[in-house]
Formats: sequence, structure tokens, C-alpha cells
Amino acid sequence: MTAPVLQVSGLRVHYRTEGGDVIAVNGVDFDVAPGETLGLVGESGSGKSTVAMAILRLTTPPGRIVDGSIKLAGEDIASLSEEQLRRRRWTEISLIPQGSMNSLNPVMRVRDQLRDAIETHEGKQSTRVLKPRILQLLETVKLPAKVYDLFPHELSGGMKQRVCIAMSIALSPSVIIADEPTSALDVVVQRTVAQTLLEVKSRLNSSMILIGHDMALQAQLVDRLAVMFAGNIVEIGPVRELFRNPHHPYTRHLIASIPSIRERKPLVISGLQSPDLRIPRPTPVMAEISPGHFAAVVDDHEEAVAHG
Ligand SMILES: Nc1ncnc2c1ncn2[C@@H]1O[C@H](COP(=O)(O)OP(=O)(O)OP(=O)(O)O)[C@@H](O)[C@H]1O
Ligand SMILES: [Mg+2]
Repeated sequence: MTAPVLQVSGLRVHYRTEGGDVIAVNGVDFDVAPGETLGLVGESGSGKSTVAMAILRLTTPPGRIVDGSIKLAGEDIASLSEEQLRRRRWTEISLIPQGSMNSLNPVMRVRDQLRDAIETHEGKQSTRVLKPRILQLLETVKLPAKVYDLFPHELSGGMKQRVCIAMSIALSPSVIIADEPTSALDVVVQRTVAQTLLEVKSRLNSSMILIGHDMALQAQLVDRLAVMFAGNIVEIGPVRELFRNPHHPYTRHLIASIPSIRERKPLVISGLQSPDLRIPRPTPVMAEISPGHFAAVVDDHEEAVAHG
């Protein structure tokens, strides 16, 4: 077995609120192998973005990382200085933040935003050197060269998202975390943008964590899938195995919720109730269902709620 590029273990993240600490991430463990695409799904508020931010140590108050370790290529990022960490972001691990396509700087042309991203890490460079490199990046994400001179408001949603992808790969990271990169786009554009993201990832030979809540899209794109529920991973495994043999009630619920046009299956509304995240809860005990497929051991109460 090859060594993982990213190892997350025992990760806990809290948000301090007036009503007490919100336990947003309640002890999460997973690895990402070289070249692998890991999907991270779960309903809104389950802690997906909180995990993503914590991996890059970008958690800011009222959030704080309470416990856990994150290893990038075997190196514990907690041991790095802020400066060392800053250098690893984008060059070794990059994040396409949730909603990033709507936070591109409106008064900066695409070329200048990409230039900034590169120069922040590599220092000032001449246009003669940078222009071909930026044009190459645009081509990689399947944008026409004219985008080089345009402003974000002159681009469609899909094109803006492609610019964000270009920024995230500008320094050839070995791990890309894409937080709901296509959720804001319409269905057809979603697929083409997601496809480009995967192609780019393969071309760079990097690994990816793809965060989303569209199970159908995930099914087509990822190698392994992790299902989050109320701050915990409740099931993780090879994507086909997980779909064929879902074990946890919440995973079953998510799969049952995929609207099937062919079968005209009704959307299943009932599912597990999300608990109050301020109440401390045990980290699930995981059982190995089949090789590489783990699911949280569910107690009778949860099982009853899921089927009730
Ligand atoms: N700044 C904050 N202060 C207090 N609670 C927060 C804060 N940010 C997030 N949370 C809480 O932490 C939990 C996890 O949030 P997070 O944004 O990680 O979820 P998510 O899975 O990414 O959801 P979505 O699918 O909507 O993006 C939620 O219950 C949320 O309300
Ligand atoms: Mg999120």
C-alpha cells in the first residue's frame, strides 16, 4: 500500500456561541491516497466545510480546532509555523472554498487574479513569463483565451467556477479540496465543470476531496465516498460498494433520496433527525463491513428513528 498524501485523525472542531460550544466536527478520521478522489457528502450543517477549513488550518474564531492531527505527506501540519504553512497552501494543498465563484474580486481582471495567486507564492514576475503560463491554465480548465482580459461580471457562472479551479491548480498542489464546486450551477453546467475538475486533477496527478450533497454526481465522480452526519463520518468506503451495500441508515436515506427519473421513485423525506450539535455525543464506533468499507455501529434508538 502506498502512503496516504493526507491523513486526518481524531479531528474535532467547535464553534463558540452564546448558547454553548457547537460541536461541528466530532472526531473525524480519514485518509486520502495519492491520485484518489474522495467524496464527502452530508446534509447542510453536517460539518463538511468545517473539516475542509480545518485541514488547511484556516479555522478562525469563533471556530477552533480542539483536537486531532492532520498530516500532509506524512508531516504533521500542527508542527509547522504559520509561514511554513502558508507556503504549503496552494503549492501542496489547495482549497476551492464554498461559494468562491461569487467571491472573485469584481474589479480585477481574470489575468490579474491569477497573477496574484502565482506571485503571492513565487514573487513578482514579468508579464512575458506569466502570460503564457496563465493562458495555459485557462486552456487547462477549458476557458477561451479571451477570458484573460475579462472581469468576473463578464463571465457566466460556469466560467467563473473554471477561473476558481484555475487558481486552485496554479501551483500544482498534490491535494485539491473542492467545497461544493458546482452546487451554484445549473445541472448541465454542473456536469461539465465537475468533469473538467476531474480531468485537471488527473493531469496534475493530484488527489482530491470533492465536497457535495448531490449523491448522483458523487457516484459518477469519486473513488471513495465518506458520508457525514452531525459532525461525524458515519460511513466510508469504495463508492460502488457503498451504493450497492449501504449500511448506515443515513447513507440509505441519502441514496433513497436520489430522484430517479426512470423509476419515478418518490423523494424520501423522512430520515434521521439531526441532533442538537451543542450536546456532546460519543464518536461513533466504526465496524468494517467489507474490505475498506466502514460504517458506524448504530444503536437501537437510531435504527428506530430511521425507520419510524
Ligand atoms: N461561525 C459559526 N458560528 C457558529 N456555528 C457555526 C459557524 N460556522 C458553522 N457553524 C455550525 O457548524 C456546523 C457545521 O457547519 P458547516 O458549514 O461545516 O456545514 P456544511 O456541511 O459545510 O454545510 P453546507 O452543506 O450548508 O455547506 C453547522 O451546524 C453550523 O451551523
Ligand atoms: Mg459547507
